[in-house]
Amino acid sequence: MQRKRHMKIIIDTDPGQDDAAAIMLALGSPELEILGLTIVAGNVPLDLTTRNALMICELSGRLDVKVFAGAEGPLIGPQVTAEHAHGKSGLDGPDIFKPSIALQTQYAPDFLVETILKEDKKTVTLCPIGPLTNIALALKSEPEIASRIEKIVLMGGGYFAQGNITPSAEFNIFADPEAAKIVYNCGAPIIMMPLDVTHQILTTKARVEKIQAVGNTASLALAKMLGFYSRYNSKKYGNDGAPLHDPTTIAWLLKPELFNGRHCNVEIETESEITRGATVIDWWEVTDRPKNAYVVNEVNSDEFFDLLTDRLGNLN
Ligand code: BDR
Ligand code: CA
Repeated sequence: MQRKRHMKIIIDTDPGQDDAAAIMLALGSPELEILGLTIVAGNVPLDLTTRNALMICELSGRLDVKVFAGAEGPLIGPQVTAEHAHGKSGLDGPDIFKPSIALQTQYAPDFLVETILKEDKKTVTLCPIGPLTNIALALKSEPEIASRIEKIVLMGGGYFAQGNITPSAEFNIFADPEAAKIVYNCGAPIIMMPLDVTHQILTTKARVEKIQAVGNTASLALAKMLGFYSRYNSKKYGNDGAPLHDPTTIAWLLKPELFNGRHCNVEIETESEITRGATVIDWWEVTDRPKNAYVVNEVNSDEFFDLLTDRLGNLN
C-alpha cells in the first residue's frame, strides 16, 4: 500500500461549530501534522474564538496543540460577527467550560512568519477558515513568506451561490475584504472552497446521528454543536441540515479526489457599498486576468461525511 504523504499545516480559525468540525477532522488524521492553530476574531470576538479553540483541542484529548491568538478585528473598519448562526458563545450546543490548556504567548501573525521561514521551503500549508486578517498581517510584515508557503486551502467566497452575510458576500471575505485582497494577490497557490461547494455538504439528521454514534467525547460534543448549528441554517435555507463549510479544506488535503473545480482568476471587491466582500470569479474565462486560485465547485458529500465520521473515531 502506498504511504500517504505527511503534511505540515497551520489552521487559521475563528471557531465556530463548523471550524470545530475542521479542527477535529485534522486532529484525527495521522497524515497531518498541525504546527499550530492561529486564532482570529470572526464568528465571535477574539477572546471567545480563542477560548473555543482551546476547548476543541481539549474535547479532542489533544492538550499538546499550540494555540496562538491573533487579530482582534479586520485591517480596516469595524468587526462583523455571526452570533446569529453560532450562538452567543460561538460554539453553542455542548456545555461551555474553561479550558485547562494554556494559550501560547506569541502573536499569531508572528508565529506564522517565524514558522514559514523556519520550515523548509514549500512544506507548510495554511488552512484559513475565518476572516483572512492574520494571514494578511503575516504577508504584510514579511512578504517573502508567500514564495515559501506550499499552498493556502481556504474557505471563503461564493460565485453562483452568491453570499450568506450580504446578498453578494460570504462571511469570511466580508469580515475583512482588504485582507482577502492581499491573500488572493500574494502569489502562493490558493485552493478556494466557496459556498458553491459547502452548500452541497449538509448536516442532515442521519449524518449527525452517525457522528454521535462514534460515542467518544469529541464526537458527542460535535453532535451537540451541529444540533444547534443545523437549527439556524435549516430554517434559513429550508434544508434538512446546514452547510458544513470549514472542514472541506481539511478533507481536500486528505482526499482531493472527492472534489472538482477549475483554475480561475478571483478578484475581491473592496469599494462598492453594495457588493463589498464579493469574490468575482472568472469561471468562464472571459478576461485574461491571471488565474490565481483553484475554485472548487463539486464534492461527493456522502464520502465527505464518511471521512469525517471515520476520523472522529481516532479522537478522545
Ligand atoms: C464561514 O463563516 C463562518 O460563519 C463559518 O465558520 C465559515 O467559516 C461560512 O460563511
Ligand atoms: Ca470559520
